[in-house]
Amino acid sequence: MAVVAITGAGRGIGLELTRQHAEQGDKVYAFLRNPDGAEALHAMVAQYQDLIIPVKMDVGVDASVKEAAAQVTDKVDVLYNVAGNVGPFTPELEKSDWTAWNDVLNILLMAPLRVLQALLPQMEPGAKVMNLSSQLAASWWPYGGFYAYGAAKAGLNRMMRSVAIDLKDRGVVVGLIHPGYVQTDMGGPGAEITPEESAKGVRAVADAWTLEETGEFKRWNGEAHPL
Ligand SMILES: NC(=O)c1ccc[n+]([C@@H]2O[C@H](COP(=O)([O-])OP(=O)(O)OC[C@H]3O[C@@H](n4cnc5c(N)ncnc54)[C@H](OP(=O)(O)O)[C@@H]3O)[C@@H](O)[C@H]2O)c1
Repeated sequence: MAVVAITGAGRGIGLELTRQHAEQGDKVYAFLRNPDGAEALHAMVAQYQDLIIPVKMDVGVDASVKEAAAQVTDKVDVLYNVAGNVGPFTPELEKSDWTAWNDVLNILLMAPLRVLQALLPQMEPGAKVMNLSSQLAASWWPYGGFYAYGAAKAGLNRMMRSVAIDLKDRGVVVGLIHPGYVQTDMGGPGAEITPEESAKGVRAVADAWTLEETGEFKRWNGEAHPL
């Protein structure tokens, strides 16, 4: 039985990762911003009994992350940084909502480091930090718009590649995964793959990731992703 910690576990890919890990008998710390409103997660908690532990965590707030991490009493084998938001998506050539920009940078770029820092004391050699990035982080992405989202995910990749170098001697593996274009609230119903397919791929990729590959960027199906 592995111990996994998942942010954004109340819906979307995070919820499905929670279900699949519990299904295979892993213990899951399911971090979510609003435990009271998460009916789907509560149904899973009932189904898998003591395997899923819901813990309130707003990844954008230092105190909330520290408070949640203090409730983790096990060594963590895999941390999935999943929580995310899209922010402004139309071209911003005349004006921008800078409050929205700050929120996107906080949630997509700073929060994965914040959560990692809080849980690092619970990680031993062999532990893994799997960050859900995006194909929009790649420099070859051929479309406009999504300035804040693309910049934040590109920043996440760049930052985590440095984190990977700094953690290598401790034996902690860092990965960047594009989870596919997924039918969630974020991806919409017209997206290419289901949350089940995405989470299944992400789990397999995370499971196979070695220390030699730390800091790499991959797709949910295991293919290398160009930077
Ligand atoms: N869907 C796609 O096609 C796609 C493609 C590439 C990358 N991704 C990435 O994959 C990850 C998951 O995406 P998704 O499709 O599952 O998105 P989603 O369905 O929109 O779910 C987003 C999740 O993030 C949580 N979240 C947002 N802000 C938070 C905060 N401050 N604190 C804690 N949790 C917060 C949400 O919680 P609440 O319910 O509290 O809002 C929700 O659980 C994201 O990082 C996203 O950028 C998704």
